[in-house]
Amino acid sequence: MKQWWRWMVLCIAILAVAGCGGTKSDAPQSATWKVGTNATFVPFEYTDESHQLNGFDIELFNAIAKKAGMKVEYKNISFDGLIPALGTKQIDAVISGMTITKARTEKVDFSFPYYQSGLGVLTKDGTAVEDLSELSGKKVAVQLGTTGAEKASEISNIELRSFDNNSEALLELTKGGVDAVIADLPVLQYYLTTKKDSVAKLSVIESKDPEYFGIAVKKGNKEVKDKINSALKELKKDGTLDALYQKYFNQDAPTMPEK
Ligand code: ARG
Repeated sequence: MKQWWRWMVLCIAILAVAGCGGTKSDAPQSATWKVGTNATFVPFEYTDESHQLNGFDIELFNAIAKKAGMKVEYKNISFDGLIPALGTKQIDAVISGMTITKARTEKVDFSFPYYQSGLGVLTKDGTAVEDLSELSGKKVAVQLGTTGAEKASEISNIELRSFDNNSEALLELTKGGVDAVIADLPVLQYYLTTKKDSVAKLSVIESKDPEYFGIAVKKGNKEVKDKINSALKELKKDGTLDALYQKYFNQDAPTMPEK
């Protein structure tokens, strides 16, 4: 009987120690930023052959987090779900080739711009498009919730096909399901050079009206925004941003308006 008690006490002691070990959760944990992106936007964000997130935005954000001493956990979600996810705090930031627009700045705050973009039209049959009204009567593919989709909706009498993912919109053009795609120029450019489509042609629209990509945070989240901005400044200073630009766009990082 005595033996039995001894074992009991020993077991309780072991459990207590193990239990103490288990309460380590109040020890400081390494802080992690949850970052939302829609990885269908080559070369900014995409999933590579080994199913890893990759691209200019991903490498840029990794560098930002490193400077800020943070870890990153990416969430690959639909583009039109990114801003709502910031609102519900599912994520702390968005990097997704997201244009700083007036409508969006009412809902979220943006970092300094880090990339200058603009819209373009890619036509399947090689027709040059000078004015968007020329797309009237045509089938046009766009990605849902993007500035390209917004532009397309202003054209009267087009057959608009909206896709959740940018890659699906481009695929529809390849398959001949639509006549044109309206999207960001660098993405269309990249598609054209890698697909080597001999007929498709890219036309620049809105060239006088540049779009700037920014990193979005929840409205009022000054802490994260400030950390991102100072990291961006440091990355510009120490040459990391130039190196990234060289890798993806064969040029140094241009000077961006700080707005
Ligand atoms: N720049 C455009 C916008 O902000 C398109 C961005 C799409 N990004 C993406 N990762 N699919 O509306």
